[in-house]
Amino acid sequence: MKVELARTAGFCFGVKRAVDMVYEQVRRYEGQKIYTYGPIIHNEEVIKDLAKQGVKVIHSEEELAQIKEGVVVIRSHGVAKSVYDRMEEKGIICVDATCPFVKKIHDIVAKESEKGSHIVIIGDGAHPEVEGTRGWAGDRADVIQTHEEARQFVHENKSQKLCIVSQTTFNYNKFKDLVEIIEEKGYDIIVLNTICNATKERQEEARRIAGRVDAMVVIGDEHSSNTQKLFEICKNECLNTYYIQTLDDLDMNQLRSVETVGITAGASTPNIIIEEVQNYVRINF
Ligand code: F3S
Repeated sequence: MKVELARTAGFCFGVKRAVDMVYEQVRRYEGQKIYTYGPIIHNEEVIKDLAKQGVKVIHSEEELAQIKEGVVVIRSHGVAKSVYDRMEEKGIICVDATCPFVKKIHDIVAKESEKGSHIVIIGDGAHPEVEGTRGWAGDRADVIQTHEEARQFVHENKSQKLCIVSQTTFNYNKFKDLVEIIEEKGYDIIVLNTICNATKERQEEARRIAGRVDAMVVIGDEHSSNTQKLFEICKNECLNTYYIQTLDDLDMNQLRSVETVGITAGASTPNIIIEEVQNYVRINF
């Protein structure tokens, strides 16, 4: 069987940097309490390993309010401005592992809303990155995720400029579609495509591979939105696409009768899991 592993599978730059930064703090602040604001990545294996080393996860600003001391690492998704303010008030050490590409969006949104633009974020409003980005635009932000929401979008103040940005992991073609729908409404718009290249490249490579193989395996945590999107893209090209979290989820029977298998993985999938799956498929089929 021929196995094709995507070059772009696994940790992206921002996630690798954030995970490395947490391990760095474990060494640096030995004996002190270390927290991450939200799970550092959507991957249970990594979270379990960090928990073993004493790293705890804070889930909300309310939980943050209970902490009196220690170090809090902000994950690559970033957070709202209010979270930084809260830490500063409390004198907690803040280690900012926000991905620089996300930070760039915070800066754009803060600057544009200060200039008086209305912010529109194309993305999933329930995703922590979008929640964080919203928190840099005051209360002047709308989030649009679907074609229907784009069609129904109305901004009362027609003369106010709209500044459209996107969640870094949003599908590029869908972003273009939604922007087009909003553009047709005749607002004064500036559009900043803030989709991260890592995502686009990963999605394009996955699409290409899925289009030429008999079966496709997508590896990632079930809560990882970018892995879910990868799965959707691959499934569109190749009906035999399987979503697994670890090697244990791989159903050998599904790959029995195929000749070529493609493998890709979401941005938060550790290399070790990808290697395990790849080696297993190469050796056993
Ligand atoms: Fe950053 Fe892009 Fe990864 S925004 S966290 S490098 S997907």
